Amino acid sequence: MPSSPRIDPDPQPAFGSSTFGKDLQRMFGAMSPRYSMFDHVSTFGGDFIWRPRALWHADRLLEHPPSRILDVGCGPGDLTLLLPQHYPTAYVVGLDFTREMVERAAGNAAARREGRATFVRGDALRLPFPDGSFDLVTSAFLLRNLPDLAHGFREMARVLRPGGVLLALDVTEPGPGAFGRFFHAYFDTVVPAIGNAFGFGGASRYLSKSIRQVPPRPQVVTLLSATGFSPALAETQWMGIVTGYFGRRPLAQVSPPVVSPGKA
Ligand SMILES: C[S@@+](CC[C@H](N)C(=O)[O-])C[C@H]1O[C@@H](n2cnc3c(N)ncnc32)[C@H](O)[C@@H]1O
Repeated sequence: MPSSPRIDPDPQPAFGSSTFGKDLQRMFGAMSPRYSMFDHVSTFGGDFIWRPRALWHADRLLEHPPSRILDVGCGPGDLTLLLPQHYPTAYVVGLDFTREMVERAAGNAAARREGRATFVRGDALRLPFPDGSFDLVTSAFLLRNLPDLAHGFREMARVLRPGGVLLALDVTEPGPGAFGRFFHAYFDTVVPAIGNAFGFGGASRYLSKSIRQVPPRPQVVTLLSATGFSPALAETQWMGIVTGYFGRRPLAQVSPPVVSPGKA
């Protein structure tokens, strides 16, 4: 008798597989009701501090308060909904490719009566906006899910206006030494145990593995420069376990007017 196909109740997306994007959407869709709580518990509340601090750092690169902001990989809107508070005259768009996350973010915005944030479904690698649409593009904890980081940065640069600023925040490896070993032990054992308690052990093992996907900080900064940002820089928080990457899309080169000698 043919055996029935085994259904993995808790799949982990595999980097490089042809179904990676779909698997990621399925995983984040299943996590969406408890994602924010898992984030707060597994980081000991650190995520409440990391996002606002990254915004203060971004302010140093911004020449004017931004009016149009895009938050890529918005999830349930934990960063997106901070943005209208931090920039009281801005309109914010949150984008995510997981339908359940977009719905949850919209629900969270409605619950807070936040009328200056809207949410759309879309792919970070094919942003559905014309060139130069935004003054500020943000992302939090998205980079390590992107199969092509350079392409992701190019898309973010494309939708920024000249002079616009990028902020991309993510968990990063603090480096070698005792603290680095503690960091990996924590993410490889404690975070999956917390994930099990939330009912998504496989997903939390994926999240732990994904941290190793992002190249070391200096390489990410080089990639930012190579994909059109100047300056490009990294600011660490909490001994390097979180890094904010920042870049500005340079102002368009303006050539001097051509003046032809007129007749006297
Ligand atoms: C770890 S969550 C971060 C959520 C939120 N930014 C935060 O501050 O907690 C990553 C989010 O990125 C989304 N995501 C991953 N890859 C994406 C892609 N290629 N395009 C759009 N969204 C993506 C996932 O659906 C998920 O909601």
